[in-house]
Amino acid sequence: MTAPAAPALKRTTVRVFRGVDPAAPRFDEYEVPYEDGASVLDALTWIRAHLDSSIAFRYSCVNANACKECMVRVDGKVGYACTERLKDSGVTVEPLKNKRLIRDLVTDIVPPKETLAAAQMRDDGPAKG
Ligand code: FES
Repeated sequence: MTAPAAPALKRTTVRVFRGVDPAAPRFDEYEVPYEDGASVLDALTWIRAHLDSSIAFRYSCVNANACKECMVRVDGKVGYACTERLKDSGVTVEPLKNKRLIRDLVTDIVPPKETLAAAQMRDDGPAKG
């Protein structure tokens, strides 16, 4: 008895915003193998492991849709990279527009009152009591 053959993987193109200047968009294109149901985050992690280790993106919970750190724009719409699905026609992945861009797909998601500088300002302020 032999195991059934694994289905051949499909391939699609993932266009990824690169750089640190949202006013000068640059995109790199990667061809990735995938199965139906694979997520954009699956593609990004595959790209980083196999094609380009310099690509910057953020995630934490991996498909639990709990951390919200993987939020990006996929084909112009805001979504979670871990739940957005790849498709045969390809996808374009960009950083959020309403957050400060750090690099590639990583934006500053820390609420302003929770930054290290804000915490230090609170700690260094006048003593109370
Ligand atoms: S990786 Fe946590 S919500 Fe997407």
